Amino acid sequence: MIVVSGTASRTLGRELASEMNAKLIEAEHKFWPDGEQIVRIPGDVKGETVVLVQTTHPDEKIIELFLLQDALRDAGVGKLITLVPYFGYARQDKRFNPGEPISAKTMARHIEMQSDEVITIDIHNKNELSYFTKPVISVSAMPEIGNYLKNLDHRKPDLIIAPDAGSIERAMVVAKIVGVDFDHLEKKRLSGDTVEIKLKKMDVSGKKIAIVDDVISTGGTILKASKPLKDQGARDIIAACVHGVFTNMADVKMRVCCDLVIASDTIESERTRISAAPAVAKYLRANGY
Ligand code: R5P
Repeated sequence: MIVVSGTASRTLGRELASEMNAKLIEAEHKFWPDGEQIVRIPGDVKGETVVLVQTTHPDEKIIELFLLQDALRDAGVGKLITLVPYFGYARQDKRFNPGEPISAKTMARHIEMQSDEVITIDIHNKNELSYFTKPVISVSAMPEIGNYLKNLDHRKPDLIIAPDAGSIERAMVVAKIVGVDFDHLEKKRLSGDTVEIKLKKMDVSGKKIAIVDDVISTGGTILKASKPLKDQGARDIIAACVHGVFTNMADVKMRVCCDLVIASDTIESERTRISAAPAVAKYLRANGY
């Protein structure tokens, strides 16, 4: 097996190659003066099973992914497994307004075209996997988040909170590993960057709380979720997510409401503390790679 990484996923590519004891090829990439991109695979992949690692965020990384897939096919790759660590457009998983596309389906169709198999990590909604016609799986890096939180000495959380019903399962996995209870809040999304969180009486006084989610994008959800918790006496608030998009001044919001913010390497940022590579490697090994 060879791991090939694009520019969106250098860290995860390195981690995965090391976990799998596989050769790593970091694809070359540059921009032409007009902003178009060109990639190059600097190595022989003929007949090999290749895991191509490239997050599809922001948009220019999608073009890079397609160019890499084609370059690998043209170079005679044996089997192409496309690993999309953060599956961009996953939150447009239905037609919210007439005339809109189901963007997650658009992405699925295009990503699978040159792949024999697709792997993603903590996809926003597992139902989106049905948009693929080829073998696809979403593995979870929540256990990695759980292990990280469990080993935080004096900061180890006493309670895990899901900010909405969609994240209950994630909170449950993390809470089990940390060895503490979990609960959830009730969220209503009013617009792309506004959410409302229903006040809920909880016994959080003096407690260290970890709010866990798949994605932190604008930080609105975490901001709204942490307020009632702080108001009810929570001592320490950690925000932990797999995909740290951190857009729209999310960083500033996070500083106001959280004592610590952590994310995985599905999107590389200064908040990256966890690698999702063990989750992917576990799946690959279980499938004989
Ligand atoms: C939504 O259902 C997701 O699980 C996240 O809660 C949401 O995408 C986070 O977005 P933001 O940081 O913009 O509130």
